[in-house]
This record gives sequence, structure tokens and C-alpha cells, in this order.
Amino acid sequence: MIRTVARATQWWYERAVKPVLFRWDPETVHDHALQFGAWIGAHPRLREMVAHGYAYHHPALTQELAGITFPAPIGLAAGFDKNARLLEILPAVGFGFAEIGSVTAVPCAGNPKPRLWRLPESGALQVYYGLANDGAAIIAERLRRRALCIPIGVSVAKTNAPSTAARAAGIADMVAGMRAVQGVGSYCTLNVSCPNAFGGTPFSDDSDALDELLQETDALRSAVPVFLKLPCDSTAEEFDALLAVADRHAVAGVIISNLTKDPQYPGIAVADRARLQRGGISGKPVAQRANAHIARTYARYRDRFVIVGCGGVFTVDDAYEKIRCGASLVQLITGMIYQGPSLIGQLHRGLVERLHREGFASIRDAVGSGVAGIHSSS
Ligand SMILES: Cc1cc2nc3c(=O)[nH]c(=O)nc-3n(C[C@H](O)[C@H](O)[C@H](O)COP(=O)(O)O)c2cc1C
Repeated sequence: MIRTVARATQWWYERAVKPVLFRWDPETVHDHALQFGAWIGAHPRLREMVAHGYAYHHPALTQELAGITFPAPIGLAAGFDKNARLLEILPAVGFGFAEIGSVTAVPCAGNPKPRLWRLPESGALQVYYGLANDGAAIIAERLRRRALCIPIGVSVAKTNAPSTAARAAGIADMVAGMRAVQGVGSYCTLNVSCPNAFGGTPFSDDSDALDELLQETDALRSAVPVFLKLPCDSTAEEFDALLAVADRHAVAGVIISNLTKDPQYPGIAVADRARLQRGGISGKPVAQRANAHIARTYARYRDRFVIVGCGGVFTVDDAYEKIRCGASLVQLITGMIYQGPSLIGQLHRGLVERLHREGFASIRDAVGSGVAGIHSSS
């Protein structure tokens, strides 16, 4: 039943809905999708119908990581539900977890519009939102008033403003944001890799700056595990330096990775080059580099960090590759925009089929199975 509904809605989405939506301004479509999702989420009967048609559950997908029970490995990445509007509908669509935000200590209008573009030939988006959000305190209050059915991460970033550009001010701002969301959600992510904010990415460009930031966030003694969202475009050596710092602090997980801003734009189709505007790129152009960073992290640190793979997941093969590289959890946004919300259930079903085919009893056994020479359980 689920498979039939999911296939039918994906067919319908790709042939009828997407061609219409893709004629409109991307941010307007995003705003309408949020309103529609929140509206369905507020109606229990409709929510149930969505869950019945879309969500796929299987015990082989459940994992206990950093003290949190994740019912399934595919989650919503930060940036789609910045203001915690979709908390009711996300589990019904089939997500195993979701990340809210990024939120900032001070409410932020973000960068001037337009700030979101499609790169359809490349399976990508160009994003220049600049951390538009209602502010950490308001969003935390919204989260406090809701019953959360799946693990919810709250992503905290540095407020996008000139006043946070100096290192000390930036650290104080990140700490204030983190303090505002204490006590809500299941984990807290420090987003140190947003490529679209004033003053760039000081905490992922410089491992000493990251060290200073993490000393301050350690001092907060967060009640929930702290994850760190890492950049896509670092060299292997730069990435290793960031991981070495994270290893010395109370960082339970790493999310790999954020948007790419490589000026060469690898993976951008020729037909999309004329569409390029400004900001970071999501989707397929992120996948390969993110996977290399994931495999490198797993090879060196194994279970020291919960690895969350992110970037360019459109198919079961894409998600499974991240798991083989060492990710226990996988996040996405762009794949869902291109293929519709039925993608989530289809990925979970496909992962279970793949696990069975490869002789793994659970997702846990497949994690890191593609990283040469170090996987003990395969
Ligand atoms: C519209 C949009 C907004 C985003 N905003 C954020 C954000 O606020 N914080 C963050 O950590 N990542 C943000 N990202 C990056 C995503 O979380 C993710 O790392 C990236 O898009 C790669 O995943 P994908 O290819 O599945 O989209 C955003 C991405 C998109 C497409």
C-alpha cells in the first residue's frame, strides 16, 4: 500500500506538480510549502493519511546514537524548516529525525532577496538566505510548546551581522544562541560552516578559532549532545585539523557537509552555468566531496563521532553510499525538492531491501562497510 501510494505521488509530483512549481520563484514556493505542510500537520486526520501513504518503518533502521533513539536514518537537514513550523508533519512524511534552524541569537531577516535559485540540470540549488530566522529564543519557545515525535536537532549559527564579525563577539553570539535553546530538542548543532553570512566562516577557516569557540560551548555543559556542522570545501588537511579540535571537546557528532562554494563549481552542468548567481550550492555537486570527508572521518575516528552524512542524496544508492562511507545518519533537502516528499519513505524502504541483499541485519552493521580495512562486522 505504502509503496503504491509513494510511487503514484512521486509520479504525480515529478510530472504534474514540479513543472508548475518550478515556474515560480523558488523562495515563494518554499514559503508556500511551509504553510501547506504546517496546515496539514495541524489536522490529525490529514496527518494520519499522509503517514499512512508515506512513512515506512522497520526495526532494522532504528539506532541508538549519542543516547538518542533514532527510529530511522533519513532526516531533514537544517535550512528547510528554519523556524520550527513543520514539527507535526515531518514524522508523518517519514523522516527519522529533523534539524530545525539554523537559528541565531538575534532574529535575522537574512540577505536581500532574491536569495534562492534552481540549477535544474545539475540537481542543485544556489542558496543565499543568510540565516533568515525568527531568533533562537522565539523558536525555542515554539519547540517547548510541542510534543516532539522524532529526534529534533536545533542548529545554532552566528548572527549574520557586522556586530558579530570580530572573533570574541562571534563566540559570545554563538554561546548566547546555544544558551537560548538549552532544554529543547534532542541535540544541538553548532553550524560553523554557513557560507552566506557576514564575516565568512571564521570557525571553520581557522582551527584555533574553533578551539576557542568550543572551549566556551563546553563550559555551557549542554544537557543534549552537541554536533558540529562542517564545511564542504576544506582540503583534507584543513578538515583533519577541524576534526582534531572537535575531538578534544564535547562534540558528539559531526554533520558532513554544508553547501559548497568552490569558485570552480565542479558538478555544475554547462546549461546551469549561466544561471549561477551568488551563495553556496546544495545537491549533487556536494555529494562526492562530502563522501570523501565522511570516509576520512570514519577511517580515523570510527565511533568517536556520530557521523551525519549530508549532500546530494536523491536515491537509495546515494544514501547507502554515505552509510558505507561511515555515516550513521543521513540528511537531505535538495533531493526532496526535486523528487517530492515521498522520497523519504522510498529511501527507507530501499535501505532495508539493500541491507537484506547485502546480508546485514541492521543499518548499524552497514555503517563504514565501504571503508577499506577497518570494518570488523562485515
Ligand atoms: C534552502 C536551503 C537553506 C539552507 N540553510 C541552512 C541553514 O540554515 N543551516 C545549515 O546548517 N545548512 C543550511 N543549508 C544546507 C543544508 O543543510 C545541507 O547541508 C545542504 O543543502 C546539502 O544537502 P542537500 O544536498 O540534501 O540539500 C541550506 C540548504 C538549503 C537548500
